[in-house]
Amino acid sequence: MLVYAGFGLIRENMRFAFFDAKQYDRPSFETYGKEAGIDFRFYETRLTPDTVELARGSDGVCVFVNDTVNAEVIDRLYEMGVGTVALRCAGYNNVDVRHAFGKVHVVHVPAYSPYAVAEHAMAMLLTSVRRIHKAYNRTKDFNFSLTGLTGFDLHGKTVGVIGTGKIGRIFVDICRGFGMQVIAYDKFPAADSKIEYVSLDELFARSDVISLHCPLTEETYHTVCAETVAKMKKGVVIVNTSRGALIDADALLEGIKARKIGAACLDVYEEEADIFFEDYSGHIMADDTLARLISMPNVLVTSHQAFLTEEALNNISQTTVQNILDLSRDGMCPNELCYRCGKTDVCRKERVGKCF
Ligand code: NAI
Repeated sequence: MLVYAGFGLIRENMRFAFFDAKQYDRPSFETYGKEAGIDFRFYETRLTPDTVELARGSDGVCVFVNDTVNAEVIDRLYEMGVGTVALRCAGYNNVDVRHAFGKVHVVHVPAYSPYAVAEHAMAMLLTSVRRIHKAYNRTKDFNFSLTGLTGFDLHGKTVGVIGTGKIGRIFVDICRGFGMQVIAYDKFPAADSKIEYVSLDELFARSDVISLHCPLTEETYHTVCAETVAKMKKGVVIVNTSRGALIDADALLEGIKARKIGAACLDVYEEEADIFFEDYSGHIMADDTLARLISMPNVLVTSHQAFLTEEALNNISQTTVQNILDLSRDGMCPNELCYRCGKTDVCRKERVGKCF
């Protein structure tokens, strides 16, 4: 149940243009939107400079991971008087937050089900190392041969976790449950976690499995690249449920071809924006790198699916609606993203640390 404190101040009948809408988004957003007096207009198209016009007349836009909220889009929204960008996801690398400052409010859903993502990462890892995807196809065809299905125990192996925030910490716990030795790298290590933090180089050198759970920033862009692959153990399994551009996909492919990388589990892909969430079966796949990766027997790809559980969808719509209500009430929301402008005298949030 949503609790709408101060209802009287909330503008009635707000309209939000909902981009990249999927069938699974609608039920919960329609329900919570109706309760709160928010009319979500669903558009299947993604938000880009070419489609931003669809937002005219709306109070805000509701966007997802592959919508484009760059300077051009922000300026157009500002000109049209569209005041809010409500991200229905945690990551915000697709938003020029700095450019948005003073023009549009940007809110996000910091956590909706970190368990969903961490469990998906482990599901992919297990599928890969125990060849479940291969066994599934074989037995469907009444082929009960075990040839080529030899896996390895996770117990006793070393997993290197990059980014120990909400999702990374849960993944660490899951791995500990499997009897794995956990090492981690985080720019801001968690003091109370009893996690063995090491340098990135040491993590690359020691890990049998590497799982990425940090945000995509200038610093983390291409964390996995030719140079870092060279530092990894032969046969390493790489899991990425975070953001595609953490991995240089061409370097990953080369590492796999050279038998340096033992397997890759990818829920995200660098160039996923024009591909993921759509049905391209029966089409010619234009992205050669992705096509080659998918053709590899030791590469598992899911299309940004890690978040997709009933619990997460429910939390996403509840929090997004609450974010919009918070903003409409007094122009502030605890889940607002803003960059640290340094104007502490005028900052209504009175934040002392980093703004995001
Ligand atoms: P979080 O903010 O709780 O944790 C991120 C962690 O990364 C923090 O501990 C932070 O200190 C660390 N970090 C920041 N900069 C770093 C750097 N340069 N090197 C290493 N670590 C660094 O975020 P949360 O909720 O755990 O999400 C992690 C990522 O998962 C998100 O950024 C998002 O990209 C991705 N995600 C993917 C989903 C999917 O469906 N595949 C769904 C939800 C999130």
